[in-house]
Amino acid sequence: MEKNRFYSKIIKTFDKLSSAEKKRIFMSLYDSFNYVNIIFENLEEGIIALDKTSTIKSLNKQASFLLNIPLNSVDKKIDDVIKEISFKKIFFDEKKSKKIVHDEKNSRFLEINILPIGEMGTIIGSIIKIIDITEIYEREQRLKRAEQLASLTTLAAGVAHEIKNPLGSISIYIQLIEKVLSTENTEKAHTEIKEYCDIVQEEISRLEETINSFLFSVRSIELQKADKNIKDLILSTLSFLKYEIEEKNIEVDLSFEDDDLILNIDERYIKQSIINIIQNAIDALETLAKKEINISVKKNHKYAIINIQDKGIGVSADDVGKLFEPYYTTKRNGTGLGLTNVARIIEAHNGKITVTSSPNSGTEFIIKLPLVISIQKYLISEEF
Ligand SMILES: Nc1ncnc2c1ncn2[C@@H]1O[C@H](COP(=O)(O)OP(=O)(O)OP(=O)(O)O)[C@@H](O)[C@H]1O
Ligand SMILES: [Mg+2]
Repeated sequence: MEKNRFYSKIIKTFDKLSSAEKKRIFMSLYDSFNYVNIIFENLEEGIIALDKTSTIKSLNKQASFLLNIPLNSVDKKIDDVIKEISFKKIFFDEKKSKKIVHDEKNSRFLEINILPIGEMGTIIGSIIKIIDITEIYEREQRLKRAEQLASLTTLAAGVAHEIKNPLGSISIYIQLIEKVLSTENTEKAHTEIKEYCDIVQEEISRLEETINSFLFSVRSIELQKADKNIKDLILSTLSFLKYEIEEKNIEVDLSFEDDDLILNIDERYIKQSIINIIQNAIDALETLAKKEINISVKKNHKYAIINIQDKGIGVSADDVGKLFEPYYTTKRNGTGLGLTNVARIIEAHNGKITVTSSPNSGTEFIIKLPLVISIQKYLISEEF
């Protein structure tokens, strides 16, 4: 700021300056320019500055190297100099300002950020920042795989435990059937055998359910994403639960800070997650006279924050940490995989889920999901 004021003063009095003074100022400017240029050229990030018409105004060596474009591309349209299809696609995808691209030819992962640049309240162009994140990206993937393997071990232990009971009961009833068959052949014996067979069938169904939910928990989630208004999504999820909510006299209090928040999500999975949380809240309110669930949606920076709160039985401080663990359940017919899958689904959407709870005062789930922020808003240029 100080410097700006200094230079504008010089511009005003420039004609009156002696040539020695002019030379001194020029040298000082030249030094500053060189200094900034050295920093610019030695940045680890590739930087490209564009004007409003997507014409390159400046680029550094690293940008030219990472995007494989000539250094002498100044005053050319970005679209004309970028030849790689995978990079080209990015510049046409308007939705995200931050993208990760796989540069197959050079086996690199690049993070590309497009940021608007403004001067006195108006957008005058944009800056493209390119970072080689190959190492970080590969390390993250390795960590993810290790985590998946660890949770698979927990899940497998859970499945073994879940399978033990129905198998034990099937074995007992088969022995009973054998006993009845070897001793009697009466009408009564037939009814008894039929009854035992039904129980065996029921236990087999329980086993099937366990296996199916186990498989869902270990398979990677394939998302089919689309843009979706969050308010519409919550309202349609609630209409799915309408009958149960009415029948159990539950009051649902809704609050939306903004009606136009858009998420890029797989609607089926997010609906399934919200249903699961609301279903748990309904269960937690079962024994209470006044049944109330509060749902609110707020915007926080680049995220939508969905709050689902009940004033139900709550969970003790010791048990709160177990809520997302596979097979943790306090319900007779619960699988204990509900919240495990909710957490996986939210994480697959690059979101976060947290919970707070205390006995007899209730439970609150906070879901944080990235919002769709169109960079079209910032960039006036039509080339993007
Ligand atoms: N809102 C809540 N209030 C109190 N306890 C809760 C709440 N939500 C979850 N819990 C506790 O966490 C446990 C695990 O929940 P989760 O949804 O994973 O499985 P579940 O509801 O028991 O079974 P399922 O979802 O298969 O029907 C529940 O059994 C319950 O003890
Ligand atoms: Mg549940």
